[in-house]
Amino acid sequence: MDVKQKQDWMTIRRSRTTGALAQAIDEGLTSFTVVERHGKQITTEEGKVFTEFVSCSYLGLEHHPALIEAANQAMARTGIHLSSSRGAMRPQYLRQLEELLEEIYQGGSVAVFTSTSNVHLGVLPLLGSGSLPNYPLTRPVHWLMDKTAHASMQVLRGILEQFGPVSRVDSADEPSVQQALQNCGENQRTPVLLIDGIGSMNGLIPVAELTRKLAAAGGYVYVDDAHGISIVGRNGAGYAFAALDHVLPSNLILAGSLSKAFGGAGGFVVVAGADDIEVISTLANPLVFGHSIMVPMLAANVAAAKLHLSLEIEIRQEQLWKNVNLFDSLTGNSLMNAGVQSPVRGALFENEVEGLEAARLLRDNGILLFPVFYPLVPDGNAMLRFAFSSEHKESEIRQLVNTLFKIREKGLNWAKPQAIAPQVQVTQ
Ligand SMILES: Cc1ncc(COP(=O)(O)O)c(C=O)c1O
Repeated sequence: MDVKQKQDWMTIRRSRTTGALAQAIDEGLTSFTVVERHGKQITTEEGKVFTEFVSCSYLGLEHHPALIEAANQAMARTGIHLSSSRGAMRPQYLRQLEELLEEIYQGGSVAVFTSTSNVHLGVLPLLGSGSLPNYPLTRPVHWLMDKTAHASMQVLRGILEQFGPVSRVDSADEPSVQQALQNCGENQRTPVLLIDGIGSMNGLIPVAELTRKLAAAGGYVYVDDAHGISIVGRNGAGYAFAALDHVLPSNLILAGSLSKAFGGAGGFVVVAGADDIEVISTLANPLVFGHSIMVPMLAANVAAAKLHLSLEIEIRQEQLWKNVNLFDSLTGNSLMNAGVQSPVRGALFENEVEGLEAARLLRDNGILLFPVFYPLVPDGNAMLRFAFSSEHKESEIRQLVNTLFKIREKGLNWAKPQAIAPQVQVTQ
């Protein structure tokens, strides 16, 4: 018997993680505690006020009066939580939310989960087993995991392998995608491509083009557009749905987030038919064996969905892109994602020491951001990640830009990486 065991992926990740993150936490550069917030101004528990470029609530809806009022009213009626699986009992707001989301994603059917990770956990085994009526399988699946796909999909590798092999692909490299599809054809497999829409660290994935390619190969596309939801598209349908001209292709499943720009909390899936939803509701693990979103957040989601169906969302989208464009023009398009319709920008530093020093200088100038290290960027690098919101004021953006230039004057240079593939592949 071969007793030589391969190291598990978590041990590999742990052994390659440096002390940079621990140091950033120790120094209060990240992982800080917020006691109060007004717009983008936060007060930390030390009593200091900063402008934050951390939150993924890109439209500032989370403190909209309509959401707060809805949450308060719901709590008064039903309390904080209906602690039961949705199959057994559910708050009235759940179906209301799904119906409103179906207005946003016209032609699609929607199921709401407590998180986007739970959407993946619930839906991918159903897709991989051919259980969804509108996504039939005549041949077993071969999962093609894009190298930039979010960790919440990558971590499911062991589960996905129960349904078919998993290969890592680079969806930006056309010949390699073509090769992977050809291999699937030769091996009598149905290709299923797993991609992000707008990446949490990267730019945009060409969803429409990839969907056409997969359709031609008899395959499916599963898109996690968590960061793209609300910030673009009609009624805030998101980057991926807008790129598909607001029509759900028959070979695509869309996963989204309610916890980022949407303003509330949770995740959702858009599939082709009500019969798919019936299967998801009765078989998806997190729905059958997990609770539904807590009452105040569910009611807030309903209020947020109504705002998505009003003019308000367009006004906020416009302001967000105005802010992002201002930042790009003031920095001469010199950061990651410059010119791309993503609310995230990044400054890559060649080494962690420089990245930490830059984060310190920004903090000393009243700015907090999200510093990331391996495994989110390649080993040894550091990335300062800035998330923009419609709520940032021009003066706050100018202050960030001025500080970035001061950092450069001190000899700390940021680079504009082409693409950062998170190093979180879950391989044995
Ligand atoms: C692209 C993407 N997908 C999924 C998730 C996980 O979302 P959740 O916390 O709802 O599981 C995130 C979280 O940041 C994300 O960025």
